[in-house]
This record gives sequence, C-alpha cells and structure tokens, in this order.
Amino acid sequence: MSVRAELRGVARTFADGTRGLLPTDLVLEPGSVTALLGPSGCGKTTLLRLLAGLARPDPGGAVLFDGRDVTDLPVERRNIGMVFQGYALFPHMTVARNIGYGLEARGVPRAQREPRVAEMLRLVRLEALAGRRPDQLSGGQRQRVALARALAPQPALLLLDEPFGALDAALRLALRVELAALLTALRVTAVIVTHDQAEAMALGDGVAVMEGGRIGQRGTPRDIYERPANRFVAGFVGTLNDLGEGRFCRPEALRPDPAGPLEGRVSAAFFDAGRTRLHLAAPGGGEWVLELEPGQAVPERGSALRLALDEKAVLRF
Ligand SMILES: Nc1ncnc2c1ncn2[C@@H]1O[C@H](COP(=O)(O)OP(=O)(O)OP(=O)(O)O)[C@@H](O)[C@H]1O
Ligand SMILES: [Mg+2]
Repeated sequence: MSVRAELRGVARTFADGTRGLLPTDLVLEPGSVTALLGPSGCGKTTLLRLLAGLARPDPGGAVLFDGRDVTDLPVERRNIGMVFQGYALFPHMTVARNIGYGLEARGVPRAQREPRVAEMLRLVRLEALAGRRPDQLSGGQRQRVALARALAPQPALLLLDEPFGALDAALRLALRVELAALLTALRVTAVIVTHDQAEAMALGDGVAVMEGGRIGQRGTPRDIYERPANRFVAGFVGTLNDLGEGRFCRPEALRPDPAGPLEGRVSAAFFDAGRTRLHLAAPGGGEWVLELEPGQAVPERGSALRLALDEKAVLRF
C-alpha cells in the first residue's frame, strides 16, 4: 500500500508574499519514515500540506505518487492519513466511531468497517475504551485514537504534524516507542514533524532538517549528527562545543585528561539517568559541554579541568 512520494521543485508563496517553502526536491521511499525537524516557522507544516494536497504549489512545482503527477488531485483522492497539530477528534462520537470515520466517509460498508476498527483498537490498545467519547479519555489515549483514525483507511502516506505536542514528557516518550514499533510493523510511508531532536532521531529512518523555507540537510540520524552540513544543522541536532577558529565538536569528543591540550573551568554538573553532564567555561568565553563516564569522579565547581580532544571528531564550519 505504501507509496513513493516525491516533491519536484515544489514551492509555496502565500497571498501576502510570504515564502512558506522555497523550491524543494524531496523523495520519500515506500515504507520509509522521515522526521522533519526545524525551528518554528521554517515551513514544516507547509511542506506537509503540499504533500497532502491541502495546498497547491506555486506554478512549476509537481507532486508525484509512484511516479504519477498528483499535483491537481485534491486531498480526499490522495489516500492520506493525517494527524495534525491539535488532532481534533469528533467530540460527540465514540472512540470506535472516530476511528471508523474515514472508512464511513469513503462509503465502506459497516460489515467491513467493524473488523477494521476492531483491528485498529487492538493496535493502539484501546479495546476497552471503544465506547467512550473523547472527553472521557486522557491526552495520550486521545492521541492514540487520532493515530488509529488516520491509519484505519490504510493510507498510502501518513503525515504526522507534532502528534505529541500537547503531551507531557513521560507520555511523549512512551508514545514515541509505541509509534516507532507501529510504523515498523505497518511499513507505511510516513513523515513526522517534531520540534524535538531526540524524537526525530528516534523515529526517522531519515531526518530532514529545515531552515527558512528550505531543507538544509537530509540524511540518516547518525549522518546528520556526525557530519552536519553546516553550523545551523549541527547546533540544531545536538550540543555543539565551539573550539574557536571555526572548529567545533560534540560532547563525546572531549574527555578529562590531565595531559590534554585544552583547559576549561567547571561551571556546572548535571546528573541525568546515570550520566553526569559537565559544563565548562571555555577560555574564549564560550561554554563547553562533555559527559563523564559512569563512576568517574565529578570535579568541583570552579576548578580547572584539562581535556583531551578527539581530533578525528572535530567539525569545521
Ligand atoms: N496563510 C499564510 N499566509 C502567510 N504566511 C503564512 C501562512 N501560513 C504560514 N505562513 C508562514 O509561512 C512560514 C512557514 O509556516 P509553517 O506553518 O510551515 O511553519 P512550521 O515550520 O510548521 O512552524 P511551527 O513549528 O511553528 O508549526 C511561516 O513564516 C508562517 O508565518
Ligand atoms: Mg507547523
């Protein structure tokens, strides 16, 4: 079912002249999950709306599904599953009816709808709550209904715009794990927009980092972290230590070493999930961050600390 989706020279200029998306080429391989990452206003929702057929590209751009030009095809004929920012469920309908809504709208008879809805309820583990209304659910449960509703009609392309935006951190993490398993099992082509770097890295086979209406870099999560194309991307997907003279490194490239060439002054230490993250005041006035090995002694605040640097891991911009 999953589609190969392509944007070819797709741009979007709004009526007031704002350029929501600059001319963009993007290929989504069938069954791949792409995480779209970038600051507020960089064009993420605009790109999704163009893929969905909720907005038309500027003249000259084309959207292709499996090589077929669908630029003129409206959203209801593109077989898209969507969970957008805010994921509005129908408040007066039960969970089961919400999930079956897309099938009902497409004229699928009840006898075929019911087993599909039951399957979706199992998938998102809400069988016991099928008869409730959205206002009788928790935020995470509502989120799972929205996901099941989008998936029920077996979409060729699943578009998720900040699906966990309204949830607290612990629930986000739990749903992230569930969603990753679900997407792997279903093998549906998917794009998920998130503000959260860790989420993008965890969910996407590929990550696309957007900036100012364009895709700044696309690659595997590892590529983007280890070989970022520019300073913006590097800083956006992880902590970046400025070593001066256009040289930067990740926290992992630094470790305490009395014989090391660098020296900083310890400004703070944070203990987090078994690891200690150390912040140092760098000689140039900036801040360096590194992580201590588990069990390694935490140096006192204000003390000087010499550091070794893994030269192979130095990034230059
Ligand atoms: N209808 C519109 N008219 C004019 N400008 C618009 C319109 N819709 C969006 N924009 C602008 O286009 C740019 C991209 O908007 P978009 O909604 O794609 O951003 P985003 O990356 O999804 O941001 P966020 O993370 O805040 O949701 C923004 O500068 C926005 O203000
Ligand atoms: Mg948006």
